[in-house]
Amino acid sequence: MPQIVVLTGAGISAESGVPTFRDADGLWEGHRVEDVATPEGFERDRATVQRFYDERRAALATVEPNAAHRALAELEETLGTGLLVVTQNIDDLHERAGSRNVIHMHGELLKALCRSCGVASPWSGTLLDEPACPGCGAHELRPDVVWFGEVPYEMDRIADALSEASTFVSIGTSGAVYPAAGFVQHARRHGARTLELNLEPSEGSHFFHESRQGRAGDLVPLWAREVLWT
Ligand code: APR
Repeated sequence: MPQIVVLTGAGISAESGVPTFRDADGLWEGHRVEDVATPEGFERDRATVQRFYDERRAALATVEPNAAHRALAELEETLGTGLLVVTQNIDDLHERAGSRNVIHMHGELLKALCRSCGVASPWSGTLLDEPACPGCGAHELRPDVVWFGEVPYEMDRIADALSEASTFVSIGTSGAVYPAAGFVQHARRHGARTLELNLEPSEGSHFFHESRQGRAGDLVPLWAREVLWT
C-alpha cells in the first residue's frame, strides 16, 4: 500500500501547454462541457465528440512533460510502490515523465473503448472514421474517457489507498468535480496529513492541513525534495 497518494488535475499539465477545463470563459477549448463530456452529448452529435477527442489525442504529440511530472517520476524511483499517482488527466504526461504507478480515474486519450464488447484498446489514431474494434470487429469505438454521469475507474483501489496513506497531496485541481474533490476528506478521516499545491486556493482548500499557492512546476519539485530529505 502506498504511503503517499498524489491526486493530479489539469493544473499539473498547464505548463506543458495542455489547457485546463475551467478557464475564464467556462468553455473547454471552445466547447460546452455538456456537449463533449457527457454520454448525452455523444448520442446527440457523435461526429463533434469524436473530432474533439481526435484533436486532443493528436495534440499530445505537441506537448512534453514538465518539471512537476518529472519530480513525481523521480520520487517514484526512490519510493517505488510507496507512491501512487491518481490523475484526473487523460493525457499521458505522467507516463512519459517515467511514472509507472498511475491510475487514470477519468480514462485515457490513448485508449478506445468498444461499446459493443466493452474492451479498451490502446489507440493513437482517429475515431471519427469509425474504425473497427481490434477485439470484436464492431465499429462502436468511443474515447476511453469517463464523462459526467459515468463512474470513474478504480474507485475501490483508490479508496483503499486513501485509507492507508500517511500523506495525501492534491496538485493542480480546482476541487470542483466529485468524487476526486472528496479524496482529501477521506484521507484526512483516516489520519493522513493533507497538502494542496495549486495556483490559487481550490474550492476545497479549507479541507487541507496546508495549502501552498504557485505553479506546479515550482512547487512540486520543492515538495518532492522535502519528502526525500525527511
Ligand atoms: N500550476 C498549478 N496549478 C495550476 C496551474 C499551474 N501552472 N495552472 C492552473 N492551475 C490550477 C487552476 O488554478 C485550477 O484550480 O489548476 C486547476 C485546474 O482546474 P480545472 O480546470 O477545473 O481542472 P481539474 O480540476 O483537473 O478538473 C477536474 O473536471 O471537466 C472535468 O473530467 C474533467 O478531469 C477533469 C475534472
